[in-house]
Amino acid sequence: MEIKYQLKPAAERRQEQFRPEGNVGFGRLRTDHMFLMDYYDGEWRDPRIVPYGPFSVAPGAVALHYGQSIFEGAKAFMHQDGEIYTFRINKNAERMNRSADILCIPYLPEEMQLQAINALIDADRLWFPMQDGACLYIRPFIFATEDRLSVSPSTSYTFCVVLSPSGAYYGANLSPISLLISTHYHRAAPGGTGASKASGNYAASLRAGRAAKEVGASQVLYLDNNNVYIEEAGAMNHFHILKDGTVVIPAFTDTILRSITSQSIIELAAELGYPVRQEMVRLDDFIKGIETGDIIEAGGFGTAAVVSPVGSYIFEDGRRLNVGDGKVGEHVKHIYEVYTAIQRGERKAPTGWLQPVPHLGH
Ligand code: PLP
Ligand code: COI
Repeated sequence: MEIKYQLKPAAERRQEQFRPEGNVGFGRLRTDHMFLMDYYDGEWRDPRIVPYGPFSVAPGAVALHYGQSIFEGAKAFMHQDGEIYTFRINKNAERMNRSADILCIPYLPEEMQLQAINALIDADRLWFPMQDGACLYIRPFIFATEDRLSVSPSTSYTFCVVLSPSGAYYGANLSPISLLISTHYHRAAPGGTGASKASGNYAASLRAGRAAKEVGASQVLYLDNNNVYIEEAGAMNHFHILKDGTVVIPAFTDTILRSITSQSIIELAAELGYPVRQEMVRLDDFIKGIETGDIIEAGGFGTAAVVSPVGSYIFEDGRRLNVGDGKVGEHVKHIYEVYTAIQRGERKAPTGWLQPVPHLGH
């Protein structure tokens, strides 16, 4: 794939490495450029890097009306050698195609996605935020552009990648969140789009998120449609930790997103020193486990937050259940430290997880 470069004039581009004052937060900032590529007449065409800015989109574009749109979320880190490394980005590219299949969006070869992401990071490498715990958050997405009001898959699409220099999600300390156990709102249904990163899944989660905020919870603990099994924690996979240190993650069904963080924790079990397993987790067993002290910690796994400890669960009748003493537990802290040290290149990563962004000289 030959990428065309329409870069901003040098004087309008960042000239030196970004050294933010204060935490830049998550997802707020952008870099100078974005990557674009269009699909029509059965092919992906015109790969290009252009100045970051608004699109021109037809008011009848299928994505705007019927939500035919998917995205990914990944991170890149700067290591001691001054190079920027993407983290397991091939897994995101693979999952993009899984989502594409679920949303009837055409396949986008993984090598093309990786080339696009690498080229954009390379062009905007001066935007890497030089700050403890900071990263470049990578947001690739595909949306349907055909101007047509009938409901069927679009015949044209745009693939775009934007970057967001982001700070440590938590600042210096992990802080426990609380989850509303929702039997009323559900995130996904069997046979639906729950295992994809369809934009509509997130639109559909907003009302449940609002209900959570209204009772003072940070996010929702989603259950399956029969309110028997635990599924996800907001935009994270859920997990809990048993007295003996075993980490338990709900089995991936078609109503749960296959979190790359969860998959990584499973692959890192030996390195972490904990058994990690996946199984269907019944809510009633989980609550009993917390009450008896058999479950000592819980939380969520996801790219943005890495590991988010849950301090308490809130029931719809207002009851509150603390996990342990409601504070951040030592296992969660250990997982967070090992995982982020691997990402930052301070601890050996499994082969292939971290890939340096090539210098292309633009
Ligand atoms: N579950 C949902 C619904 C998500 O949106 C995310 C975020 O990407 C995750 C889980 C965590 O997945 P990952 O670890 O791949 O970021
Ligand atoms: C991520 O963790 O990268 C996500 O995509 C979650 C999000 C919707 C911010």
